[in-house]
Amino acid sequence: MRIGLLTGGGDCPGLNAVIRAVVRKGINVHGHELVGFRNGWAGVLSGESVDLTHQSTSGILHRGGTILGTSRTNPYKGDEDGGAKVRATLESQGIDALIPIGGEDTLGVAKRLSEEGVPVVGVPKTIDNDLAGTDFTFGFQTAVQIATDAIDRLHTTAESHNRVIVVEVMGRHAGWIAAYSGIAGGADVVLVPERPFDVEEVCERIRRRHASGRTFSIVVVAEGAQAKDGDVSGDAGQTDAFGHVRLGGIAVELEREIEARTGFESRMTILGHVQRGGTPLAYDRVLGTRFGVAAVDAVTDGRFGMMTALRGTAIELVPLDEALAEPKLLDPSLFETAEVFFG
Ligand code: F6P
Repeated sequence: MRIGLLTGGGDCPGLNAVIRAVVRKGINVHGHELVGFRNGWAGVLSGESVDLTHQSTSGILHRGGTILGTSRTNPYKGDEDGGAKVRATLESQGIDALIPIGGEDTLGVAKRLSEEGVPVVGVPKTIDNDLAGTDFTFGFQTAVQIATDAIDRLHTTAESHNRVIVVEVMGRHAGWIAAYSGIAGGADVVLVPERPFDVEEVCERIRRRHASGRTFSIVVVAEGAQAKDGDVSGDAGQTDAFGHVRLGGIAVELEREIEARTGFESRMTILGHVQRGGTPLAYDRVLGTRFGVAAVDAVTDGRFGMMTALRGTAIELVPLDEALAEPKLLDPSLFETAEVFFG
């Protein structure tokens, strides 16, 4: 078979591990040919592709980002007949099946193409860990480690200066990174999209903590968190090709509010894309590798319309429908664990 690969949406540590695994197993065991489309769905629409071989995928396992490039291009944006354009490229390049590696948007396109008869097997990717159907997405553990390292560093400077430091982490719909890094880093308050917060309550927790003798506090906030009254949010007022609002900046508002209401000197840090860059942890390389192997096996077996998934410790296939029905929100018990340590 001749199989097309693409990486779409925000990049994520571990993407290259998936590409390498698909290519190695695809060529060595199944005798397939592999083709990589450049820059997500943009490359499929324009037909820009490269042959993926042992040579072109060697030495990439430990590298962050994606050797194929990525984009947030949506083939179905507006009135475009994205399906027809994608099918035309697949036909002209003799592609028998596609393996899109992406999050809700990229796999949403994959699902629609699958419904239109295009043979696809998806691989779930996002540092946010908010895709249903899989216990974890690769990239998440690396992002959590980066955020935890940052919180550790912010702790020592917050303590030295007797300050409140607000750390903003990624997490559009779900507070997985905030909760994990908040627990691992010993945060005094964690704010997540699933639980709209009251600014005054946050301030009260900090006041209580400081009244009991502590002189600094760390607040971890997910970019998608919002105040109950809607006054404090990270909506930057722009949308992407999938209609998602660009987030970022809730920490700026929180820093201001906390300092104004409590009188404690406050600072904020937005970790942003630092969380997506750099070398993947071993966990994400292994998960990406297992997903890649499973995806190319699934294509070989004709299991189309499916997505690779981690269930417990096993790699399984789940229907794309199931995975995309709704985002996987934070497990409430995890938030409750973080809450035990709030100020
Ligand atoms: O991939 C998901 C994500 O990391 C979100 O948490 C964040 O809102 C978004 O990507 C930012 O993406 P961009 O690279 O377009 O700024």
